[in-house]
Amino acid sequence: KRYGTVDNGTRQRTFPNGSDNDNSHDYENVKEKNDTDGVVIEPIKLKRSVGLISGTSLIVGTIIGSGIFISPTDVLDRTGSVGLSLVIWVLSGLLALLGALSYSELGTMIRKSGGEYAYMKEAYGDVMAFLFAWTSVIVIRTSSVAIISLTFGEYMATFFPMCGSPENIKKLVAIVVIVTIAVVNCIDTTLAARMQVFFTGAKLIALMIIVVGGLIRLGQGHVSQFKDSFKGSETNPSSIALAFYNALWAYDGWNNLNYVTEEIEDPKKNLPRANIIAVLLVTIVYILTNISYLTAMTAAELLSVDAVAVTWGDRVLGGAAILMPLAVLFSTFGAANGTLFSGGRVVYVASREGHLPEVLSYVHCKRVTPMPSIVFTALISIAMVIPGNIGSLIDFFSFTAWLFYGLTVGSLILLRFTRKDIERPLKIPIIIPIVFVLIACYLVIGPIVQDPKIEFLYAFLFVIGGLLFYIPFVFFKIELRIFAKVTEFFQLLCEIVPSPYEPD
Ligand code: ARG
Repeated sequence: KRYGTVDNGTRQRTFPNGSDNDNSHDYENVKEKNDTDGVVIEPIKLKRSVGLISGTSLIVGTIIGSGIFISPTDVLDRTGSVGLSLVIWVLSGLLALLGALSYSELGTMIRKSGGEYAYMKEAYGDVMAFLFAWTSVIVIRTSSVAIISLTFGEYMATFFPMCGSPENIKKLVAIVVIVTIAVVNCIDTTLAARMQVFFTGAKLIALMIIVVGGLIRLGQGHVSQFKDSFKGSETNPSSIALAFYNALWAYDGWNNLNYVTEEIEDPKKNLPRANIIAVLLVTIVYILTNISYLTAMTAAELLSVDAVAVTWGDRVLGGAAILMPLAVLFSTFGAANGTLFSGGRVVYVASREGHLPEVLSYVHCKRVTPMPSIVFTALISIAMVIPGNIGSLIDFFSFTAWLFYGLTVGSLILLRFTRKDIERPLKIPIIIPIVFVLIACYLVIGPIVQDPKIEFLYAFLFVIGGLLFYIPFVFFKIELRIFAKVTEFFQLLCEIVPSPYEPD
């Protein structure tokens, strides 16, 4: 028996925005009506409210988070030279651009929200779509939250230099961050959304200060680090692929507007434009930021610091140096908040499709927040923080994410042959997705060939583990009585009810 009912008559969602930064119109319009046995949630109609500017800022806001404050050190370490590391930053931006172009074709052709999930379902069918949802829920989003929170811990530690930098304290801080944002998102989604505006502002200010400061220092002639800059470059393709992992982490999020295609105004125009403008903007900012770091410290110093933006601030900002760690803390906190929120959303869509236990798609009956999925995502993230560290989690993340980016763009190529009939408002030259898929293959296979890290085995096992779940429970639709009992237990315990969203 379900406690609480919802009106499922109309096909509308109450869990609209999968974006990381703008969850403002989340449940605002949901009215609660009392009903004999619970609460009836009136479905709301989604408006097409995301235009070019808001779409672009949504992507930029998602992309910038923790990576630019943590990855420069690792990219330099794995490439061996300043010159090659800058090349990796440029190429990663270009790769994100190729991805954004491919996703623009996919998003204007299959005009459903849900990103990869929707495209893979169309191209490869249910199993692949399931595996994506599964992996995204269990691995991709959760490890993102873990990495970003650990970065927060890293920058927090700079406030207590006398303590050294004990790993356990950073992890504890990361766990506190995850618990805090989980609680906020369970209590009030609009509060979480309002905070987001402030956090996005903080990260833009931080990067602007670094960029402008860097340009000034370049003008003053601090260019010694750029002389003879390719000396010592790494030539092993596998190490270079790993360097890409770190830079691509910082660029991750370029695909995020595709999750909310149904909410974009005039998506045929605005989706491609916002995708392209956002990625170009971020690429320029990231390159200038990297250059700026190197105007304030030597390559050797950059390699030895954990919190590079703090060192930069100490050298350049003098008395105002405190601004830097503060801004980075806000930036990472906002990114963790946004990612946890949208992570919850994928769980939600997948469980409504019958691809994950249904109880995960329920909402809190009074607060109308997707509490079960948020708690679920937060718990897995914490489980990753405890044994993990930023570096290995980024490898784990990038390996898995690029496996699926490659498959998704592969679906574009496949659909050109299998679904010639679909209208394609934007048809990009086929060479773009082909190059993208080849690079994705290199990124996924390269690191395994030379250095089969345990992270990749874990990631692979998680993906394959999805099948163990799929075959009995999704394909054969086996329903164990215990599931109903567990669902009921959680419903009573947490006051959650099914929500009125119905998937396509
Ligand atoms: N690029 C972001 C950062 O540097 C991480 C994005 C994680 N992915 C996402 N879809 N939220 O922190």
